[in-house]
Amino acid sequence: MLFIFVSILCLGISKCAGQDLECNLYEGKWVYDESYPLFDSSECPFIRKEFDCLKYGRPDHLYLKYRWQPNACNLPRFDGRDFVNKIKGKKIMFVGDSVSDNLWQSLLCLLHTALGGSNITTTVRSNTTTTTVTFQNYGVSITMFLSHYLVDIETEKIGRVLKLNSIKDGETWKQADVLIFNTWLWWYRRGPKQPWDYIEDDGKKVKDMDRMVAFEKGLTTWAKWVESDVDHSKTKVFFQGISPSHYNGNEWNEPGVTNCSNETTPLDGSTYPAGEPLASKVLKKVLSNNITPSKPVHLLDITNLSQLRKDGHPSKYNAFRGMDCTHWCLAGVPDTWNQLLYAQLLQLT
Ligand SMILES: *[C@@H]1O[C@H](CO)[C@@H](O)[C@H](O)[C@H]1NC(C)=O
Ligand SMILES: *[C@@H]1O[C@H](CO)[C@@H](O)[C@H](O)[C@H]1NC(C)=O
Ligand SMILES: *[C@@H]1O[C@H](CO)[C@@H](O)[C@H](O)[C@H]1NC(C)=O
Ligand SMILES: *[C@@H]1O[C@H](CO)[C@@H](O)[C@H](O)[C@H]1NC(C)=O
Ligand SMILES: *[C@@H]1O[C@H](CO)[C@@H](O)[C@H](O)[C@H]1NC(C)=O
Repeated sequence: MLFIFVSILCLGISKCAGQDLECNLYEGKWVYDESYPLFDSSECPFIRKEFDCLKYGRPDHLYLKYRWQPNACNLPRFDGRDFVNKIKGKKIMFVGDSVSDNLWQSLLCLLHTALGGSNITTTVRSNTTTTTVTFQNYGVSITMFLSHYLVDIETEKIGRVLKLNSIKDGETWKQADVLIFNTWLWWYRRGPKQPWDYIEDDGKKVKDMDRMVAFEKGLTTWAKWVESDVDHSKTKVFFQGISPSHYNGNEWNEPGVTNCSNETTPLDGSTYPAGEPLASKVLKKVLSNNITPSKPVHLLDITNLSQLRKDGHPSKYNAFRGMDCTHWCLAGVPDTWNQLLYAQLLQLT
C-alpha cells in the first residue's frame, strides 16, 4: 500500500520528489457499486436539512451507488473504527463555509454508523461560529468552525471590512490536531448576500476589487499564516479543494441546461469538458508559491472527481425547495472526500 501514500502526499506539496508515481488517487472514474452508500441517511442525526435529499423526497437513488475508482489502485474503504483508534484523544477541525459543513457532517455520519449508531454517546456543543461533536468513548472531537473567507471581517465606523491581510481566528484553529480548510463559495457574492462593505488590502480600503485577485490575496495570507503560526509537529493541515457547482450545462456538453434538476448519473469517464476551474488553478498556485515541504498542506484535490458528479447535488430536494446545485446530498459525494482524507491521514498518523 505504501506507494499509494507516497503519491497522495506529493499532491499536497509544491515539488514532488519522484515523478514516477504509481498511483494518483485523484485520477480515475466513478463506478457502480451495489454496496454503496456508506451510511443510511435516515439513521444519522447530524444531517442539515439542506443536505438530507432522501428525507425531502429525492425520487432517484442511483446517485448513492457510485464509488470512486482510481485508475492504478483502490481507495481504501472507510474504516471508522480504525479512524477513531488512530486519532484517539485528538481534535479535528473543519474551517470554512457550508461546503466544509457538508464534509464535516459526512464524517460525523460515517463515524456514527461505523461505531454502532445509537449505541454510542456523542455530545454536541455549539455557539454562533463553532459546533463540536465529541465521540465520548474515543475522546475524539470533531469541530466545524464557520469562516466564509478564512480572513477577517470586522465592523468599523465606515462599515463591515473584509481584511485580506488578517487572520485573527487562527489562535483558535491552531489548537486542533488536524485542520481541514476551505474557502471559495463566498468570494463572488454581491448585493444583499455580500457580508462586507469594503475590502482592505495593504492598509488601503476600497469599495471593491477583482474578486479572483481578492481570493488569491486572502488565500496567500492564510498560507503564510500556516507557515508561520501552525506547529507542524502537532497539527496536520489539509485544504479541501474547490467544490464545483452545476448550473451551466455548457460545461458538461448539455447546452441550455441551467441547473442540476434533471441529472441522475455521473459523467462517464475521467474528463470534464469545461476543464479545471480557474479558482482551482489559483489555489494550486498559492500553495506552490507559499507552502514548503517541511511544513506541508495536504491538498484534498476533489475538484475533478466532483465535477463529474452533476447528479450529486440536492437540486430541489431540501427543506427550502430552492434549487441547490452547489452543496451535496448526504450520503453522497462528500463521503468520497472523507475516504480521501482518511487515506491521507493513515499515512500521517
Ligand atoms: C446496539 O447494541 C445492541 C445491544 O448490544 C445490539 O443488538 C445492536 O446491534 C447495536 N446496534 C448497532 C447499530 O451496532
Ligand atoms: C465559540 O466557541 C469556540 C470554541 O470553544 C471559541 O473559540 C469561540 O471564541 C466561540 N465563539 C463565540 C462567538 O462565542
Ligand atoms: C431547472 O431546470 C429545468 C429544466 O432544465 C427548468 O425547467 C427549471 O425551470 C429550472 N429551475 C430553476 C429553479 O432554475
Ligand atoms: C430530462 O432528462 C430526460 C432523460 O434524459 C429527457 O428525456 C428530458 O427531456 C430531460 N428534461 C429536461 C427538462 O431537460
Ligand atoms: C484535473 O483536470 C485538469 C484538466 O481538466 C488536469 O490538468 C489535472 O491534471 C486534473 N487533475 C487531476 C488530479 O487529475
